[in-house]
Amino acid sequence: MRKPDATMARRVTLGNAILFGGFALLSAALLLLHADALQWRDPGVARWLDAALVLAAWLGLLGWLCCRRLPEPSKPLPMADAAVGHDPVAVVADARVDAAQVEVGVRVVYASQTGFAAQLARQTLQSLQAAGVPAQLHGLDTLTLDELRHAGQVLFVASTTGDGEPPDMALAFSRLAMKRPAQLDGLRYGLLALGDGDYEDYCGFGRQLQRWLEASGAQALFDPVEVDSEDEASLRHWQHHLAMLSGVSDLPDWQAPKYQRWQLIERRLLNPGSVGEPCFHLELKPLQGSTNWQAGDLVEIGPCHAPDKVATWLSSRELDGRVPVAFGKERLPLAALLARCRLPEPGEVEGLDEDAVAATLQRLPHRAYSIASLPEDGAIHLLVRQMRGRGGYLGLGSGWLTAHAPLGTEVALRVRSNVNFHAPRDARPLILIGNGTGLAALRALLKARIAAGHRRNWLLFGERHAAHDFLYRDEIERWVADGRIERADFAWSRDQAERIHVPQRLREAADELQRWVDAGAAVYVCGSLDGLAPGVDAALRDVLGDARLEQLRGQGGYRRDVY
Ligand SMILES: Cc1cc2nc3c(=O)[nH]c(=O)nc-3n(C[C@H](O)[C@H](O)[C@H](O)COP(=O)(O)OP(=O)(O)OC[C@H]3O[C@@H](n4cnc5c(N)ncnc54)[C@H](O)[C@@H]3O)c2cc1C
Ligand SMILES: Cc1cc2nc3c(=O)[nH]c(=O)nc-3n(C[C@H](O)[C@H](O)[C@H](O)COP(=O)(O)O)c2cc1C
Repeated sequence: MRKPDATMARRVTLGNAILFGGFALLSAALLLLHADALQWRDPGVARWLDAALVLAAWLGLLGWLCCRRLPEPSKPLPMADAAVGHDPVAVVADARVDAAQVEVGVRVVYASQTGFAAQLARQTLQSLQAAGVPAQLHGLDTLTLDELRHAGQVLFVASTTGDGEPPDMALAFSRLAMKRPAQLDGLRYGLLALGDGDYEDYCGFGRQLQRWLEASGAQALFDPVEVDSEDEASLRHWQHHLAMLSGVSDLPDWQAPKYQRWQLIERRLLNPGSVGEPCFHLELKPLQGSTNWQAGDLVEIGPCHAPDKVATWLSSRELDGRVPVAFGKERLPLAALLARCRLPEPGEVEGLDEDAVAATLQRLPHRAYSIASLPEDGAIHLLVRQMRGRGGYLGLGSGWLTAHAPLGTEVALRVRSNVNFHAPRDARPLILIGNGTGLAALRALLKARIAAGHRRNWLLFGERHAAHDFLYRDEIERWVADGRIERADFAWSRDQAERIHVPQRLREAADELQRWVDAGAAVYVCGSLDGLAPGVDAALRDVLGDARLEQLRGQGGYRRDVY
């Protein structure tokens, strides 16, 4: 294992300090041996010469030792492409961060919509720093093309949103910088592309970025790593590259964020009589410890199958769900384990007993929900719409939370920080735009603003019928009456003959919108990706103009959390 350069430097400094300390002590001891008062006498030319020679030799030795640790100034690192036919591990090892690179540092650049890429970028940074490699973290929205050109080594962590689109924070970079190939000959890069195999354009933005980097002459340090959902094997692959890159093979493993044990303590239907799917207010309390979060953050829930679905699966395979089986460090009845795992297809487990079935199981992927409360509320509140497929069956996560899980059920939950949607730190006016369950995050933001004494809040919310779909009606009307929400506009799409949606309300209030933005307002949008986001974006462009909106986005004043 190669020692990290920073550790070496610390050791050399310590060694020199000990040496000089020793000399100082020796001189002090020799002085004590003097019986008479000290007198100065010229030692003579020959002794002066001897002393000068010893000093010169010592300085020469020090200089040689220092130079030996410096690399050749511009040693090129090999391209991954040129490595075809070589041992991949050896090739990456050649690409280790050398001392020249250490001076510059590695830049870890992320493009994230809901926080996962940002989280993995932070973990990447920590791994590099733990290996003694200086590294800096940047959002793709803060990096210029010129900085990239001179960056040396860059590790990109990029997610995809929409239909194969870049995260909002990468929109400007993708539209301007990536419009055509740039001159990036000196750049060496690695890429971690996050996506979800259920989407048609898998890792769409990561792949666009990769093609652009390639066309711009940048050199890949290794093949891009693509991560489907939170696939652990791909994440380990990325960590392996980090180890090779930093020259430290025993970097601590990344711990997948662990679920905590929470309890479902309340469930209330908020839209009785609605023509839409039922929407529930849920409350959850931690069963152990306490958890902190901020308005704008999300939870990830480990969903479970309905008990009767598991029972049917077990009986059709003649397996006993009560048999205790091993799963990682746990031991639990097979039925309980199956509830939180993908149910294998018949052919996958034919002839296997309970233990062998358990060994094939994979945990269900999480479902994300916006937090609708603040820690001061004493519980996590969620606003969950029951999803139903064409066959009439309930969606996995929403079905479990809103229908299958009895009150008191233990819920596997973890909080995911969503920095992109945190409230502005200052008192600037805030325009909150949403539809449906998008109100969850807006409610938490409003609570945070109200708690901080900021009253310049403008809510624009859309649903179907005011009589049935006015979620959190009492609370919102109270806030409006108290002046804690300065202005509220609602688009009840089906309360009149023609359909009215939120973008229309925005256009109707164009002058006011312009005044709020001129006064420094930030615009936060939360709700449906297809039904709300494009219409609101178009209305904002019409009212404010493309350039103003892009400027606002660039300054962090236009943020979206749409799904
Ligand atoms: C950042 C973020 C924040 C979110 N916040 C919220 C929130 O605050 N509130 C909220 O309610 N939701 C929120 N969501 C959405 C939520 O994460 C889930 O996507 C939603 O609850 C549906 O998940 P599900 O497991 O219930 O449905 P799934 O089981 O994933 O199914 C989704 C849909 O497809 C249908 N379907 C599933 N399998 C099939 C199949 N084989 N054939 C045909 N159709 C099928 C289902 O019936 C359902 O209609 C958020 C999502 C994100 C990304
Ligand atoms: C609204 C939405 C749209 C998405 N679209 C795509 C897509 O088109 N292609 C893809 O591979 N992944 C897609 N994903 C999956 C995300 O890229 C993936 O969950 C990623 O881990 C999110 O990282 P982030 O939190 O940093 O944005 C989408 C996710 C959401 C919530």
